[in-house]
Amino acid sequence: MSRSLASLTDCIEAELRQVAVVFDTELESKLSCVRALVKHVSRFRGKMLRPMLVLLTGKACGNLTPAHITIATVVEMAHMSTLIHDDVLDDAELRRKGPTINHLRGNEAAILLGDYLISHSFHLCSSLDSQMASRTIAATTNEVCEGELLQIDNRGNYALTEQTYMEIITRKTASLCGACCLLGARLSGATEELAQKMERYGRRIGEAFQIQDDLLDLVGDVRDVGKTLGTDIEKGKMTLPMIHFMRTAPKQHRDLLVSLLTGNEPDRAEKIRNLILPSPSVEYARAKATALINEALDCLAELPESEAKTALVAAAQFVLDRPK
Ligand code: IPE
Ligand code: IPE
Ligand code: MG
Ligand code: MG
Repeated sequence: MSRSLASLTDCIEAELRQVAVVFDTELESKLSCVRALVKHVSRFRGKMLRPMLVLLTGKACGNLTPAHITIATVVEMAHMSTLIHDDVLDDAELRRKGPTINHLRGNEAAILLGDYLISHSFHLCSSLDSQMASRTIAATTNEVCEGELLQIDNRGNYALTEQTYMEIITRKTASLCGACCLLGARLSGATEELAQKMERYGRRIGEAFQIQDDLLDLVGDVRDVGKTLGTDIEKGKMTLPMIHFMRTAPKQHRDLLVSLLTGNEPDRAEKIRNLILPSPSVEYARAKATALINEALDCLAELPESEAKTALVAAAQFVLDRPK
């Protein structure tokens, strides 16, 4: 975990440790072949942003309960399932500074391990005996799948609009962040009005998070980010800086971008980066992420002052500044 993130987790450190234990316990199997794959995903841990959102929102709205630990684990499992499948879709070789399952063991094993994780996520969620929680999680994973399907439907669509891009990212990424905050709040007994505000906070930071992720895919350094970069270009996914460029750059530059995107030159990612970096398009995407973060912060206004609220404010800032 990066140092800046660690400063956000001080007030939920014990609970995050419990999440790691529940995660490993839930995924236990009698089969050594299953254990070997699970060991790989337990070894390369991510930032744990989604469990943090459940726990910090829960704490900012009231008291944490065992159900918060369960849901925090459920959302991390669902998230990891999508990452494992996403790495198949993107032909990625590196994730969390380690080899991807598809790279190590092939696509079939990765698809099945992703299924194993989502299945366990639902299994663990149903241990709560809360129809509200189960339906919220399932509705969220439905929405994530819709976002991924809308994304592949627009693969190679170089005229993708900002509106459709937002529709994709709000489903594939922001919906889960929103659900984390909604559930964190509801499990603490927050009023429905406050819970909805928390969901909005989560959605806005989820959107900003994906815009920043897309910027890192374009201009980040693999040594910091720890995952295969450049896959958006490789897989014909238009992201915000490119969408803005296609809307605003001189025709000659736009034609050049399309010819690079449709071509197969080995260093085209580098050329695209050199074309876009001097334009205002990267700054435009950063400004859009900043505006979303400001909207997220507005949603926190009603919360009483607490360490957890301060951490939620810092989490919003982290989304913009994160190096990975
Ligand atoms: C990566 O999410 C996938 C996106 C939604 C962009 P994270 O960057 O939170 O991944 P980990 O969990 O820290 O590896
Ligand atoms: C996020 O999209 C994937 C999901 C929400 C499942 P990306 O394809 O940008 O994620 P990374 O960059 O590989 O982590
Ligand atoms: Mg990917
Ligand atoms: Mg990405």
